[in-house]
Amino acid sequence: MLDRERIPRHVAIIMDGNGRWAESKGVPRLAGHNAGMKAMKEIVKRAHELGIANLTVYAFSTENWKRSTEEVSGIFRLLITYVKSELKEIMDNNVRIRILGDASAIPRDALKAVEKALRETENNTGLQFNIALNYGSRDEIRRAVEEIAREVGQGKLAPEEITEEMIGDHLFTGKLHEDCGDPELIIRTSGEERLSNFLLWQAAYSEFVFTDTLWPDFTPERFEEAIETYQNRNRRFGGR
Ligand code: IPE
Ligand code: IPE
Ligand code: MG
Repeated sequence: MLDRERIPRHVAIIMDGNGRWAESKGVPRLAGHNAGMKAMKEIVKRAHELGIANLTVYAFSTENWKRSTEEVSGIFRLLITYVKSELKEIMDNNVRIRILGDASAIPRDALKAVEKALRETENNTGLQFNIALNYGSRDEIRRAVEEIAREVGQGKLAPEEITEEMIGDHLFTGKLHEDCGDPELIIRTSGEERLSNFLLWQAAYSEFVFTDTLWPDFTPERFEEAIETYQNRNRRFGGR
């Protein structure tokens, strides 16, 4: 049974397996991404109901540009559809949307739709729903290093004054809001057991739950099971 008193504050999800789900059904890959969007909607709803403070989902990586232009543009089209069709429910649920990643390379129409959602949900105080879009953790760390190096170059900071906290603050997640700590739990679907350039710094002490379920089949019940697995872990942080 899920312990409602010990719900993690920050859950991150690598939503993987849309392509294999489509293949198993004999439908185009984009139909898999569409089914994946529907799964995401349900997980957002359940995260809100469970009182999770932050949900961060990996929607598109800096490496996903390697895919066909048809697939890439299809994914962004689906994102626009999601944002537009869900905005009302998102508002009703007091959910605030944020994005993390390099927004400059996101197709203009997708960025416009997302930015509208960011603005409209700006004052919502419930679940913080963070969408990693054109996100890569190495890119994120490189940017943090560049910003800090600039401060050093300007003489505002001595190299030996650089702290771990400062690095965290310069990451995309550090800029989301002050309450977005490192994820206690990272879930990856589809049987792959790797980070694929997701939250490398932030995952230092995260618990990982891997499931063979393909993302479109990942239900709110499965989500609760993953949280339950997390609740049964013994987190030591290097102590005894
Ligand atoms: C995850 O599903 C969605 C994105 C990476 C955008 P995939 O498209 O990676 O699905 P598989 O791994 O090919 O099954
Ligand atoms: C990670 O999945 C990225 C997202 C889920 C958005 P991928 O399917 O791109 O990762 P690899 O290629 O299997 O490592
Ligand atoms: Mg994949």
